[in-house]
Amino acid sequence: MNSAPALAPETTIAIIGAGHIGSVLARALRQAGLAVSGPYGRGDAIPAVDIALLCVPDTAIPEAAAAARTRATRIAHVSGATPLDDVDFSIHPLQTFTGAESPDIFHGIGAAIAGRSPADKNIAEQLARTLGARPFEVDDADRAGYHAAASFASNFVLTVLDAAEQLAASAGIKGEEARDLLTPLISRTVDNWQSSGATASLTGPIARGDEGTIARQRAAVDEADPALTSLFDELATATRAIARQKAAV
Ligand SMILES: NC(=O)c1ccc[n+]([C@@H]2O[C@H](COP(=O)([O-])OP(=O)(O)OC[C@H]3O[C@@H](n4cnc5c(N)ncnc54)[C@H](OP(=O)(O)O)[C@@H]3O)[C@@H](O)[C@H]2O)c1
Repeated sequence: MNSAPALAPETTIAIIGAGHIGSVLARALRQAGLAVSGPYGRGDAIPAVDIALLCVPDTAIPEAAAAARTRATRIAHVSGATPLDDVDFSIHPLQTFTGAESPDIFHGIGAAIAGRSPADKNIAEQLARTLGARPFEVDDADRAGYHAAASFASNFVLTVLDAAEQLAASAGIKGEEARDLLTPLISRTVDNWQSSGATASLTGPIARGDEGTIARQRAAVDEADPALTSLFDELATATRAIARQKAAV
């Protein structure tokens, strides 16, 4: 990647969108020494800037880009899934933000970058490095798949963890206590997956081929909350596929 200087302390950046990520990103870029204004909300007057960084929902990107075009030399977004149709470059921090995080949340995380031109991509790369993130390239054609991976890794993990919390509650272990007790199991599973991948890390009744235990688990899930039974079945099917790979190794 070309890393010729493109960002300077005098480069002006307007953050558009004061939601979950906009406020954190404004704090972090400001702390990194860049001339940042915002985050600006809907209808706010945007000053003339070098870069308008859109932190708006994906569906609002065309409208926000059109509004910023007369005020900014370059327009960028922070979306993972949206292509570059309405912007010059993109930087997608591979992290989940609720808005309360400190600026160091960007340190060491990945940041997917893309640009219409080498100069645009260069700015995206330098923004990522300025935040302390690790830039990597994702082409427009691959963005939806890349973002689906992020959804599996964050949003869907939460869905599964929420199911675990509900089932623990059905066994009398409720709320914070359940989360505290389950967290070491979750952390070790993630550590094992990170170092060795899913096939090597899989344990439990499906990996052992223990159909009796699986059937008793399924009945308990169905009794606790029938709405979770189809999720159990889908996950069991996907987990059996991993177990088959494990058996074949
Ligand atoms: N949150 C994350 O973890 C995360 C991580 C990586 C990337 N991203 C990306 O960041 C972008 C924003 O996500 P988010 O989670 O921060 O969304 P969000 O919390 O819903 O915030 C979006 C903000 O944009 C504002 N907005 C909407 N249209 C606007 C416009 N035309 N001009 C100015 N502001 C406008 C919204 O204001 P109103 O409330 O008035 O509509 C809201 O404050 C998305 O592209 C997302 O993919 C998010």
